[in-house]
Amino acid sequence: MIRGDAFQSFLDAALVAFDRHATDIRARNSVMQLFSQLETPGVQRDDAPPKRLPVCERFLASALENAATKPSLERMISCFRELEPLIVWRWRSSYDSSASDNFLMSHANGMIVGPGGLEDRKDVWLGVTLMAPHVRYPDHDHPPEETYLVMSEGEFKQAEGEWFAPGIGGSFYNTPGIKHAMRSGSKPLLALWALRADGQSH
Ligand SMILES: [Fe+2]
Repeated sequence: MIRGDAFQSFLDAALVAFDRHATDIRARNSVMQLFSQLETPGVQRDDAPPKRLPVCERFLASALENAATKPSLERMISCFRELEPLIVWRWRSSYDSSASDNFLMSHANGMIVGPGGLEDRKDVWLGVTLMAPHVRYPDHDHPPEETYLVMSEGEFKQAEGEWFAPGIGGSFYNTPGIKHAMRSGSKPLLALWALRADGQSH
């Protein structure tokens, strides 16, 4: 149950970054509750070997460099670089025609905390998505509320609203069950998401 140093340092830096950037009051409440739940560590997994997907090899380094240009994200990015070699990057298991044709080979999700994550638990999910340029993630929804911390250029959409670009360090809140999606432009998209969950799939 004891977290490794790289893991705990990343969580500490992520809390600071979410606290700095989440402005929506619902997001702030959610994030503060979520990180207080994380004060109790969950099961640390070491049975799944770390795995990178092709999109990671091609775009992760440049996406992290780009994110670190924002001074308030620098510390978290540096901690993420230490943690990343442990992450099992995965493809999303389901998607529909709302995704772009290139979606499958052009995205990767890393579950840091959450079901199947480095810290395996159901109450809190903290993960990261990387997408190559010109990729649209499928519409999806889930009962848990969710706060995004965006670390790149790229656009996001909620329900039937217009696409919007939070920018590096931008944050927004998804109410429980709202349909949402993201798409990259000419640069890779990198975003962290934090959910207070009941165990449903992301
Ligand atoms: Fe989501």
